[in-house]
Amino acid sequence: MVKMKTGLVGCGNIGADLCIALQKGSIPAEIIALTDTDTEHANVLLRTFQLDAEIVGLDECASRADFLVEAAHAQAVKDVLEAAIKHHCPCLIMSVGGLMDVLDLLEQVQESGVQVRIPSGALCGLDGIRAAMEAGLHSVTLTTRKPPKGLVGAPYLEEKGISLEDLTEPVMVFEGTALEACKAFPQNVNVAGALSITGIGAVDTRVRLIADPGATSNSHEVVAEGAFGRLQTITENMPSPRNAKSSYLASLSACAELRAAAMVFVAARG
Ligand SMILES: NC(=O)c1ccc[n+]([C@@H]2O[C@H](COP(=O)([O-])OP(=O)(O)OC[C@H]3O[C@@H](n4cnc5c(N)ncnc54)[C@H](O)[C@@H]3O)[C@@H](O)[C@H]2O)c1
Repeated sequence: MVKMKTGLVGCGNIGADLCIALQKGSIPAEIIALTDTDTEHANVLLRTFQLDAEIVGLDECASRADFLVEAAHAQAVKDVLEAAIKHHCPCLIMSVGGLMDVLDLLEQVQESGVQVRIPSGALCGLDGIRAAMEAGLHSVTLTTRKPPKGLVGAPYLEEKGISLEDLTEPVMVFEGTALEACKAFPQNVNVAGALSITGIGAVDTRVRLIADPGATSNSHEVVAEGAFGRLQTITENMPSPRNAKSSYLASLSACAELRAAAMVFVAARG
């Protein structure tokens, strides 16, 4: 059976969830190369899932693979896109917020013809946003609500000296554009990136981020208005089984994108 050779960049939580999905055998893909800034993380995946893969650098990973999966960090996105262009390798970018820093590079990606998959991640409703864009949208607002511990370490909170310890009631810690949100919370609001790219862009999409000590899930509410009417979606995410800071649906969206890419690959190979 033909399988899509996949290079994995970032061997953490989502990487492990992809390995679990691949083990089940219904996705026609296999991981043949792994890259991580912490080699031990790559080693753990190699050992745990007994992968027939090698730990290599990013360039080597892209040169060997039919498809690259970035599941690392916003800061990895630029290098992954450059490697994808150089080796004409289609890719999936999980750290969607990182795309906001490299919007110029996205134009080069388009010119190169390399396909970049953007996952819906931990968000529902992007199908409606995409369709509504055909007639234009007037406004798109994302309100994200997370338990305070899910926001620990965000650069914005550290710069502003905002402590979320001892919160007793919900506090809006950020309100601004999606562009600002992705820079302020690069590991927390990837969904804002996906929403803006699908919809009216990162400058016009509004984001509110609420730290809620009573929240038991990461929830995202999208409200959009346009020629089509008005939509409102609410996604209440269970945490990922292996990483309480991440939403399980994000990992599942990575699996779904890998499956879709692999099906296209296999179909093209006849
Ligand atoms: N699109 C979404 O909705 C969504 C949802 C959750 C997470 N994410 C993003 O996906 C990415 C992976 O998430 P995770 O939960 O697996 O994180 P994780 O922290 O569990 O794993 C990340 C791994 O990448 C490695 N890494 C960090 N920087 C790297 C670099 N520059 N090059 C190579 N490896 C690097 C780390 O050592 C770690 O092993 C994160 O950027 C996260 O923000 C996106």
